[in-house]
Amino acid sequence: MKRIAIYPGSFDPVTNGHLDIVERGLKLFDTIIVAILQNPGKKGLFSIDERIEMLEAGLKKFSNVEIDTFDGLTVEYAKRKRAQGILRGLRAMSDFEYEFQMALMNRKLNREVQTIFLMTGLRWIYTSSSIIKEAAQFGGNINGMVPALVQRKLQDKFGFTSTGTNVKTSRKNKAKKAGK
Ligand code: PNS
Repeated sequence: MKRIAIYPGSFDPVTNGHLDIVERGLKLFDTIIVAILQNPGKKGLFSIDERIEMLEAGLKKFSNVEIDTFDGLTVEYAKRKRAQGILRGLRAMSDFEYEFQMALMNRKLNREVQTIFLMTGLRWIYTSSSIIKEAAQFGGNINGMVPALVQRKLQDKFGFTSTGTNVKTSRKNKAKKAGK
């Protein structure tokens, strides 16, 4: 029997920590379906299409990985995909409470599908999509935390160049100096 896991999440955007979980998960499962939750109630920084594009770029080195989107319950999606497992990454203790609650609720909803937690590599223990977005927003160096395309897209979104210069602000400052 083919062992299939879904790896659900927002992936707004994908980080190297997510890729690390996929790599570890592939040691346990034949196929991993990275599934982006389409949540109309939660507007992300990136559109679903952009998230897919970034995932495709980050995951191209792996075979046996699919990218998909879903809405509704994760366990229902897992059932449709005939997946035996729901993969989730665990970093610090702060993740535990939320993940534990979600795993127990998912088990209550469907006892056939198991949640599998994998520890991220130590180098990713402090990273998350949210904290990386926050750093990028203020021109922080996010080099090595996300795939190259994600870094470029974050810098574009917030108007920074790779050297940390804010294009929008410097344009404004130049215009101010020129008296425009
Ligand atoms: O990357 P995230 O935002 O931590 O992922 C959270 C996600 C998508 C795994 C979670 O919100 C989810 O599974 N949502 C779908 C609805 C659902 O099944 N919720 C859990 C049981 S009620």
